Amino acid sequence: MFGAVVRDALGVARGVGTRPPAGGRLPRPVIEIVERDDGLITGVMAAGYLAEPDQWPAHDRRALDLVHGRVLDVGVGAGRAALALQERGVPVTGLDISPGAIAVCRARGVRELAHASVEEHAAAGQRYDTFLLLGNNLGLLEGRERAPGFLDALARMASPGARVIAQGTDPYGTTDPVQVGYHKRNREHGRFGGQLRLRLRYRELATDWFDYLVCSVDELSELLSGTGWELSALDDTDAPYYLATLEHRNGRRV
Ligand SMILES: C[S@@+](CC[C@H](N)C(=O)[O-])C[C@H]1O[C@@H](n2cnc3c(N)ncnc32)[C@H](O)[C@@H]1O
Repeated sequence: MFGAVVRDALGVARGVGTRPPAGGRLPRPVIEIVERDDGLITGVMAAGYLAEPDQWPAHDRRALDLVHGRVLDVGVGAGRAALALQERGVPVTGLDISPGAIAVCRARGVRELAHASVEEHAAAGQRYDTFLLLGNNLGLLEGRERAPGFLDALARMASPGARVIAQGTDPYGTTDPVQVGYHKRNREHGRFGGQLRLRLRYRELATDWFDYLVCSVDELSELLSGTGWELSALDDTDAPYYLATLEHRNGRRV
């Protein structure tokens, strides 16, 4: 599903390949439809997944300045960050569970790619100095059940002194009654307020329902407890968006 979105976004950007039917000569924007379990429907302009650094939010550009050593771009998408790092001469591998996303990354010139989950890739024995989770990909922690396993897989791939650089969003500043009501219902069911239950749609395709976590820094700290990962720095200049830097207690350089 995500692969078809970024494949068509690439088609629109390049003017070749598969694209949504334009019904004329004007290109149509490719929009990833996000459906939430309370019925809320929103859309993401897929062109953003291909954007160049000068079009990014400033915190994404600052994230690139925080990486060191070998980088694993977790949930690489269409490869915007991996390409920017390659351009700087940084060794980077893009990892994604979507075969279509991997194909688009390859077509755009990302050299090192892994079609795998973090657990599968951890079993391959590679080691990294930075795990980069951009585009709200702190959301891949999902919630209390999934986060320990996900963070453990990263720890198994961590070189001494490795860091996670993850972009998140604090969902709780809003007064929108739809959002406030959703957060309240989630908490009543033992979930984080911003533990979104989503499925993605594009044309005739739909994913299964999955959890995607939009959490406050306090909630992130709760999830880190007992994992060995600690919050070592926070950039919330562009609040409600933030960049969290995590370091592993057993992996500090001496
Ligand atoms: C919101 S997009 C972000 C893409 C990219 N990081 C960016 O900033 O443009 C999420 C990406 O994560 C991938 N993804 C989702 N779940 C994943 C998982 N469990 N492991 C690895 N990648 C995953 C999706 O296929 C998609 O490419």
